[in-house]
Amino acid sequence: MFTNVLSFAVLAGAAMASPCKPSATTSAPSYTTVPSPSSTAIAAGEPFGILALRSASPIHFAQVGAALSSVFLNLPAQNATCDDGTKPTTADYATFTLSEDGELYLYAASATPQQLFVDRSGMGQGKLGYTTGAQPIPRNGERTAFSLDESDDLSFNGAGFLACPDSIDGSWSVWVDAGVSNPAGNSNCLGFSARAVKIADAPNSCSYTQ
Ligand SMILES: *[C@@H]1O[C@H](CO)[C@@H](O)[C@H](O)[C@H]1NC(C)=O
Repeated sequence: MFTNVLSFAVLAGAAMASPCKPSATTSAPSYTTVPSPSSTAIAAGEPFGILALRSASPIHFAQVGAALSSVFLNLPAQNATCDDGTKPTTADYATFTLSEDGELYLYAASATPQQLFVDRSGMGQGKLGYTTGAQPIPRNGERTAFSLDESDDLSFNGAGFLACPDSIDGSWSVWVDAGVSNPAGNSNCLGFSARAVKIADAPNSCSYTQ
Protein backbone atom coordinates (compact mmCIF):
# COMPACT_ATOMS: atom_id res chain seq x y z
CA MET A 1 0.00 0.00 0.00
CA PHE A 2 2.74 2.42 0.91
CA THR A 3 4.39 2.02 -2.47
CA ASN A 4 1.27 3.03 -4.33
CA VAL A 5 0.50 5.93 -2.07
CA LEU A 6 4.05 7.16 -2.33
CA SER A 7 4.17 6.99 -6.11
CA PHE A 8 0.88 8.84 -6.21
CA ALA A 9 2.36 11.56 -4.03
CA VAL A 10 5.38 11.84 -6.31
CA LEU A 11 3.31 12.16 -9.43
CA ALA A 12 1.18 14.74 -7.71
CA GLY A 13 4.35 16.74 -7.24
CA ALA A 14 3.65 16.99 -3.53
CA ALA A 15 5.63 15.96 -0.50
CA MET A 16 4.04 13.36 1.75
CA ALA A 17 2.92 15.21 4.82
CA SER A 18 2.60 12.03 6.85
CA PRO A 19 2.86 8.27 6.35
CA CYS A 20 -0.20 6.07 5.98
CA LYS A 21 -2.60 6.16 8.83
CA PRO A 22 -2.64 2.92 10.81
CA SER A 23 -6.32 2.14 10.31
CA ALA A 24 -7.01 -0.42 7.60
CA THR A 25 -9.94 1.57 6.27
CA THR A 26 -8.14 4.88 5.71
CA SER A 27 -5.85 4.46 2.74
CA ALA A 28 -6.10 8.05 1.56
CA PRO A 29 -2.73 9.75 1.41
CA SER A 30 -2.09 13.20 2.80
CA TYR A 31 -1.13 15.97 0.42
CA THR A 32 -0.12 19.54 0.99
CA THR A 33 -0.69 20.72 -2.56
CA VAL A 34 -2.55 19.54 -5.62
CA PRO A 35 -0.95 19.46 -9.08
CA SER A 36 -0.86 22.79 -10.82
CA PRO A 37 -3.13 22.69 -13.87
CA SER A 38 -0.64 24.10 -16.37
CA SER A 39 1.99 21.42 -15.77
CA THR A 40 -0.36 18.46 -15.85
CA ALA A 41 -2.43 18.75 -19.03
CA ILE A 42 -3.60 15.25 -19.89
CA ALA A 43 -3.89 14.30 -23.55
CA ALA A 44 -6.31 11.73 -24.95
CA GLY A 45 -5.11 8.22 -24.15
CA GLU A 46 -2.68 9.30 -21.42
CA PRO A 47 -3.08 7.32 -18.18
CA PHE A 48 -4.18 9.15 -15.05
CA GLY A 49 -5.34 8.52 -11.50
CA ILE A 50 -8.12 10.54 -9.85
CA LEU A 51 -8.06 12.38 -6.53
CA ALA A 52 -11.26 13.60 -4.86
CA LEU A 53 -11.22 17.25 -3.80
CA ARG A 54 -13.73 18.32 -1.16
CA SER A 55 -12.06 20.44 1.47
CA ALA A 56 -12.69 19.82 5.17
CA SER A 57 -14.24 16.40 4.53
CA PRO A 58 -13.15 12.76 4.98
CA ILE A 59 -12.85 12.41 1.20
CA HIS A 60 -10.48 15.32 0.53
CA PHE A 61 -7.57 13.85 -1.49
CA ALA A 62 -9.14 10.38 -1.46
CA GLN A 63 -7.97 8.15 -4.30
CA VAL A 64 -10.50 6.74 -6.74
CA GLY A 65 -10.55 2.96 -6.89
CA ALA A 66 -12.43 0.42 -9.02
CA ALA A 67 -13.83 -2.97 -7.96
CA LEU A 68 -16.95 -5.08 -8.39
CA SER A 69 -17.92 -3.15 -11.57
CA SER A 70 -18.23 0.02 -9.47
CA VAL A 71 -16.16 3.02 -8.42
CA PHE A 72 -15.15 4.00 -4.87
CA LEU A 73 -13.17 6.45 -2.77
CA ASN A 74 -10.90 5.26 0.04
CA LEU A 75 -11.20 1.61 -0.93
CA PRO A 76 -8.51 -0.22 1.09
CA ALA A 77 -8.02 -3.04 -1.45
CA GLN A 78 -9.32 -3.18 -5.01
CA ASN A 79 -8.17 -6.80 -5.44
CA ALA A 80 -7.47 -6.08 -9.11
CA THR A 81 -5.23 -8.37 -11.14
CA CYS A 82 -2.35 -6.32 -12.50
CA ASP A 83 0.22 -7.18 -15.16
CA ASP A 84 3.38 -5.61 -13.86
CA GLY A 85 4.96 -7.98 -11.37
CA THR A 86 7.23 -5.23 -10.05
CA LYS A 87 4.21 -3.45 -8.64
CA PRO A 88 1.72 -4.60 -6.02
CA THR A 89 -0.87 -6.76 -7.73
CA THR A 90 -3.49 -5.13 -5.54
CA ALA A 91 -3.07 -1.51 -6.60
CA ASP A 92 -5.09 0.72 -4.29
CA TYR A 93 -6.04 3.28 -6.90
CA ALA A 94 -7.43 2.83 -10.38
CA THR A 95 -5.70 4.07 -13.54
CA PHE A 96 -7.90 5.60 -16.25
CA THR A 97 -7.65 6.83 -19.82
CA LEU A 98 -9.97 9.18 -21.69
CA SER A 99 -10.42 8.81 -25.45
CA GLU A 100 -10.80 11.69 -27.89
CA ASP A 101 -14.47 10.74 -28.14
CA GLY A 102 -15.04 11.21 -24.42
CA GLU A 103 -15.05 7.53 -23.50
CA LEU A 104 -13.52 6.67 -20.14
CA TYR A 105 -11.58 3.42 -19.70
CA LEU A 106 -9.71 1.63 -16.96
CA TYR A 107 -6.14 1.48 -18.20
CA ALA A 108 -5.11 -1.95 -19.46
CA ALA A 109 -2.59 -3.06 -22.08
CA SER A 110 -5.44 -4.88 -23.76
CA ALA A 111 -7.51 -4.48 -26.93
CA THR A 112 -10.66 -4.47 -24.81
CA PRO A 113 -10.06 -2.41 -21.67
CA GLN A 114 -12.85 -2.18 -19.11
CA GLN A 115 -15.09 0.82 -19.90
CA LEU A 116 -17.00 3.20 -17.66
CA PHE A 117 -20.69 3.96 -18.07
CA VAL A 118 -23.24 6.20 -16.37
CA ASP A 119 -26.94 5.54 -15.79
CA ARG A 120 -28.73 8.84 -15.22
CA SER A 121 -32.21 7.32 -15.50
CA GLY A 122 -34.69 7.23 -12.63
CA MET A 123 -33.51 3.70 -11.94
CA GLY A 124 -29.79 4.42 -12.12
CA GLN A 125 -29.87 7.80 -10.32
CA GLY A 126 -26.32 8.51 -11.53
CA LYS A 127 -24.90 5.00 -11.21
CA LEU A 128 -21.24 4.98 -12.29
CA GLY A 129 -19.95 1.55 -13.25
CA TYR A 130 -17.79 -0.29 -15.73
CA THR A 131 -18.20 -3.21 -18.07
CA THR A 132 -15.74 -6.01 -18.79
CA GLY A 133 -15.17 -7.45 -22.27
CA ALA A 134 -18.39 -7.87 -24.25
CA GLN A 135 -20.60 -7.31 -21.19
CA PRO A 136 -23.48 -4.99 -22.20
CA ILE A 137 -24.16 -1.73 -20.40
CA PRO A 138 -27.50 -1.26 -18.62
CA ARG A 139 -30.42 -0.26 -20.86
CA ASN A 140 -30.11 3.41 -19.95
CA GLY A 141 -26.34 3.41 -19.67
CA GLU A 142 -24.26 6.04 -21.48
CA ARG A 143 -20.56 5.88 -22.30
CA THR A 144 -20.03 9.46 -23.51
CA ALA A 145 -19.26 12.18 -22.88
CA PHE A 146 -16.66 12.33 -20.15
CA SER A 147 -14.32 15.28 -20.34
CA LEU A 148 -11.48 17.00 -18.50
CA ASP A 149 -11.57 20.76 -18.04
CA GLU A 150 -8.60 23.15 -17.92
CA SER A 151 -7.95 22.14 -14.29
CA ASP A 152 -8.07 18.44 -15.22
CA ASP A 153 -11.34 18.03 -13.35
CA LEU A 154 -13.43 15.21 -14.78
CA SER A 155 -17.10 15.67 -15.59
CA PHE A 156 -19.81 13.70 -17.39
CA ASN A 157 -21.97 15.72 -19.79
CA GLY A 158 -21.24 18.72 -17.61
CA ALA A 159 -22.25 16.95 -14.39
CA GLY A 160 -19.94 16.45 -11.42
CA PHE A 161 -19.64 13.58 -8.96
CA LEU A 162 -21.02 12.52 -5.57
CA ALA A 163 -19.59 10.15 -2.98
CA CYS A 164 -21.71 8.34 -0.40
CA PRO A 165 -20.29 6.85 2.82
CA ASP A 166 -20.72 3.41 4.38
CA SER A 167 -19.92 1.41 1.27
CA ILE A 168 -17.78 -1.75 1.07
CA ASP A 169 -14.83 -1.98 3.49
CA GLY A 170 -15.51 1.52 4.83
CA SER A 171 -15.20 3.12 1.39
CA TRP A 172 -17.45 5.70 -0.27
CA SER A 173 -19.40 4.78 -3.42
CA VAL A 174 -19.00 7.19 -6.36
CA TRP A 175 -21.92 8.45 -8.45
CA VAL A 176 -22.45 11.00 -11.20
CA ASP A 177 -24.55 13.90 -9.93
CA ALA A 178 -27.77 13.27 -11.84
CA GLY A 179 -29.74 15.73 -9.74
CA VAL A 180 -30.36 13.28 -6.88
CA SER A 181 -28.31 14.42 -3.90
CA ASN A 182 -28.54 11.04 -2.11
CA PRO A 183 -28.84 8.39 -4.86
CA ALA A 184 -30.10 4.85 -4.33
CA GLY A 185 -31.17 5.29 -0.73
CA ASN A 186 -27.78 6.52 0.46
CA SER A 187 -27.45 9.35 2.95
CA ASN A 188 -24.86 12.02 3.74
CA CYS A 189 -23.48 12.02 0.19
CA LEU A 190 -21.01 14.78 -0.70
CA GLY A 191 -20.23 16.43 -4.02
CA PHE A 192 -16.56 16.47 -4.96
CA SER A 193 -14.23 17.49 -7.76
CA ALA A 194 -12.60 14.55 -9.54
CA ARG A 195 -9.08 15.82 -10.24
CA ALA A 196 -7.18 13.76 -12.80
CA VAL A 197 -3.49 13.35 -12.01
CA LYS A 198 -1.16 12.21 -14.75
CA ILE A 199 0.70 8.95 -14.12
CA ALA A 200 4.30 9.90 -14.77
CA ASP A 201 5.63 6.40 -14.18
CA ALA A 202 4.83 3.31 -16.24
CA PRO A 203 1.11 2.84 -15.62
CA ASN A 204 -0.08 -0.36 -13.98
CA SER A 205 -2.16 -2.41 -16.41
CA CYS A 206 -4.94 -4.04 -14.41
CA SER A 207 -8.09 -6.07 -14.72
CA TYR A 208 -10.53 -4.90 -12.06
CA THR A 209 -13.03 -7.25 -10.41
CA GLN A 210 -16.54 -7.69 -11.81
C1 LIG B 1 -10.58 -7.69 -1.27
O1 LIG B 1 -10.22 -8.91 -0.64
C2 LIG B 1 -10.35 -8.87 0.78
C3 LIG B 1 -9.82 -10.19 1.30
O2 LIG B 1 -10.48 -11.26 0.70
C4 LIG B 1 -11.80 -8.62 1.16
O3 LIG B 1 -11.93 -8.54 2.56
C5 LIG B 1 -12.26 -7.31 0.54
O4 LIG B 1 -13.63 -7.09 0.81
C6 LIG B 1 -12.02 -7.33 -0.97
N1 LIG B 1 -12.37 -6.03 -1.53
C7 LIG B 1 -13.18 -5.87 -2.57
C8 LIG B 1 -13.39 -4.47 -3.02
O5 LIG B 1 -13.71 -6.78 -3.15
